[in-house]
Amino acid sequence: MTTKSPQTVLITGANRGLGYETAKTLKQLGLRVILSARDTIKGQEAADKLAVEFLPLDVSNTTSISQAAKKYQSLFGNTLDILINNAGIFPDTNDQASILETSPELIHQALLTNTTGPMLVTQHFLPYLENSSDPSKARIINLSSKLGQLSSMQATAPAYSISKTALNALTRQQSAALATKNICVNAVSPGWVRTDMGGKHADLSVTEGADSIIWLATQAPSTLTGAFIRNRKQIEW
Ligand SMILES: NC(=O)c1ccc[n+]([C@@H]2O[C@H](COP(=O)([O-])OP(=O)(O)OC[C@H]3O[C@@H](n4cnc5c(N)ncnc54)[C@H](OP(=O)(O)O)[C@@H]3O)[C@@H](O)[C@H]2O)c1
Repeated sequence: MTTKSPQTVLITGANRGLGYETAKTLKQLGLRVILSARDTIKGQEAADKLAVEFLPLDVSNTTSISQAAKKYQSLFGNTLDILINNAGIFPDTNDQASILETSPELIHQALLTNTTGPMLVTQHFLPYLENSSDPSKARIINLSSKLGQLSSMQATAPAYSISKTALNALTRQQSAALATKNICVNAVSPGWVRTDMGGKHADLSVTEGADSIIWLATQAPSTLTGAFIRNRKQIEW
């Protein structure tokens, strides 16, 4: 009798916050978790704490992404089932920062980590997703935000919001481009979560915030693609 090997998941920016919580839960559910982080010491410490494997990866640096993809193959093989593009920054100095004053540098900084980061990470790890043990179940999950929702957009946190709207567009592009390969791609809004980014007054615990991410990784139908998810349900873009 052959035993099926566990699904492998790679999570970016997982040394703390929602990425760490997601790594913890997916490990408990029996998946093989590759925790990645830009800071090698913090990343290795987090991985050791969860008894998972570690991959150094700075999503804002193309060389780091390409080195990580090569290292992934040499350490973990050429198969990946689930990619969670979680790493993100909130560079606006406060929620009231105005688009009438924000600098192009701030917008570029947000796009580099929150939008082109997930685009390049996906490009470099796609060959491994294509080798998934069950390619019709390979999944990409992009950590978006309510602040990136175009239909409810307000004049707040412009750099962050614009980068997450662009991430939503990237999600639709990736979903359409990967439809023939049966790899599903969805964006998720975790809600306002008590992490370093969300702050201590946020509505949700990390466990509550990670719920829809875990659902997309393990339970959502593999036919679900090109959707924006909140509380396990599809929401407007
Ligand atoms: N918390 C919320 O309320 C909320 C709401 C909506 C969406 N989100 C999204 O959820 C995701 C996780 O957020 P969080 O609340 O867990 O934030 P967090 O606690 O600030 O954690 C962010 C993580 O991203 C990592 N990161 C930042 N830039 C990176 C880079 N260039 N390369 C690799 N890793 C990088 C950080 O690493 P370092 O430790 O090295 O800085 C950290 O591990 C983000 O995409 C965020 O936009 C959060």
